[in-house]
Amino acid sequence: MSDDPNIGRVDAPTWDDLAAIADLDREAFREDGLTAANLGLLAQAARLYVAREEGKVVGQALVIGRVGRPEAFLFGLAVTAGRRGRGLGARLLRAIVADLAAAGVASLDLTVEPGNQAAVWLYEKEGFGRVAEVPDLLGPGRPRLIMRRPVP
Ligand SMILES: CC(C)(COP(=O)(O)OP(=O)(O)OC[C@H]1O[C@@H](n2cnc3c(N)ncnc32)[C@H](O)[C@@H]1OP(=O)(O)O)[C@@H](O)C(=O)NCCC(=O)NCCS
Repeated sequence: MSDDPNIGRVDAPTWDDLAAIADLDREAFREDGLTAANLGLLAQAARLYVAREEGKVVGQALVIGRVGRPEAFLFGLAVTAGRRGRGLGARLLRAIVADLAAAGVASLDLTVEPGNQAAVWLYEKEGFGRVAEVPDLLGPGRPRLIMRRPVP
């Protein structure tokens, strides 16, 4: 967990938390965004992380584990448009890696759109290496770059 009181894991998200995270998911990922109900289900098995400013959710991430495997998977990471470029994404990632390290996770995988320069840059800066590019992973014409970093 992060030392920063405004960034950390949400163990028992309230409905307001889930609704705020869903709003941010929809803002960042449009039709691919998760609903609050789906986030509530995922929270039964995944780890949710949020960054708050003045109580408002301004960043969020979701990490899921894999049955029988030591790698965790970063399902999503987003910072609200007006708060990007101020290091919040990097701080969220560092909080996640510290939390996963304490849980004995060996590595963290993610996928990102190869043309998403801000995200790819951030992930490389935070220690993720390129593993493979998979064409059509999210559907026809929607390739994803798979990246991985060791934990911690
Ligand atoms: C990706 C995202 C989470 C980054 O959050 P953030 O809070 O802006 O991240 P940070 O401020 O910690 O770092 C951003 C870095 O990218 C850099 N950056 C920003 N825009 C960039 C661009 N167009 N090209 C290259 N680098 C860029 C910044 O300069 C910064 O690097 P620096 O610290 O060396 O200056 C945010 O842009 C976002 O939510 N995007 C929409 C959702 C998304 O694409 N999520 C990733 C899905 S895999």
